[in-house]
Amino acid sequence: MTTTAPDVAAARRLEGIACLVGNTPLLAVRLSVRGSERTIYAKAEHLNLTGSIKDRMTLHMLRRAYATGALRPGEPIIEATSGNTGISFAALGRSLGHPVTIFMPDYMSLERRALIGSFGAEIALVSADEGGFRCSISRAEETAARLGDAFLPRQFSNQDNCDAHTVATGPEIWWQLQAAFVEPDAFVAGVGTGGTIMGVGRYLRRKRPDCRLHPVEPASSAVLAGGPGGRHRIQGVCDEFIPPIVDLDFLDEPVLVADGDAILMAQKLATTLGLGVGISSGANFLGAVLVQERLGPEAAVATVFADDNKKYLSTDLLHDEPVEDGYVSPGVELLGYRAIRRSCHTCCDPASCREAPPAGFVPDDEPLPACPRPRRGGAGG
Ligand SMILES: Cc1ncc(COP(=O)(O)O)c(C=O)c1O
Repeated sequence: MTTTAPDVAAARRLEGIACLVGNTPLLAVRLSVRGSERTIYAKAEHLNLTGSIKDRMTLHMLRRAYATGALRPGEPIIEATSGNTGISFAALGRSLGHPVTIFMPDYMSLERRALIGSFGAEIALVSADEGGFRCSISRAEETAARLGDAFLPRQFSNQDNCDAHTVATGPEIWWQLQAAFVEPDAFVAGVGTGGTIMGVGRYLRRKRPDCRLHPVEPASSAVLAGGPGGRHRIQGVCDEFIPPIVDLDFLDEPVLVADGDAILMAQKLATTLGLGVGISSGANFLGAVLVQERLGPEAAVATVFADDNKKYLSTDLLHDEPVEDGYVSPGVELLGYRAIRRSCHTCCDPASCREAPPAGFVPDDEPLPACPRPRRGGAGG
């Protein structure tokens, strides 16, 4: 494969985008469950460039596709998604100059469609009667086959999706927890493609083989638990089939959360802590609470706030949600949070380090603060 000037320009742009993706803070959220205080760790993935954890996968896949030649400058990108992946590929793909077409079920929030369109991508909607999500995937495949030179990320079956979290999200969580002198007893996350739980899980289990990994899914559509698919309001998770990249033997048992409970929890995170996160983040938080109930209040349980609340302004997230028997969120009191910032292990990029002044740099009279990292072979400086 020969490298051309447009390849180099696209690679440079990708590295610019990379500064806006990942290395998010880890929030140590203090809470009280029926009067017993504890902490749950949540990665603030809603702070990524387009407001969701999907930017990590998109960036990783685009890097890999450029490196292997699977995607060349100007070639079309085509993907089936329930929204966040579409928003992410639209933003990153368009910024690299690619035409982007997104196949998506028509029952996803209006904001998702509007955002994908706002980045200049084309949207092809598929109704539930036509086959919803599964049909979106087959239409994306057919269109790509017709075009010949299109890049299809295939997020449900592409291991690069998991790898994005094994090389970045997992190590970030591990080292941020280490900064708080904590090792994770469990990681829980809702499953859309399964990339997050499989990828983060692989890294955490490498570091700590007995770390539990619990997928979270809607109680009304508990497909991973062996139940039938059904309607639910936790957009982004459970597309009514088990994605090929999910290895159920690698995971612990699923945790079921009612969608109304997830909505109430997400509302509480916003109204009490000012954390504007989406419905699946409410579900993840409740999943973490339930796992901690089983392991004990001292257990270190980590999860992700997968996206922000801006894609749900037209949904039930902004409406009064009735409390039903068995809901967990009414017993959860949120007390506050501490943010654990980036950790040097995953944040430091020697290539862009400015500790050594670039040629021609004129120092002013304000010295740089000393880097507190211990230097190799010497004392901290
Ligand atoms: C809002 C939201 N939460 C959770 C997920 C699940 O993440 P994953 O696909 O890595 O399983 C997604 C995936 O699109 C999502 O959009």
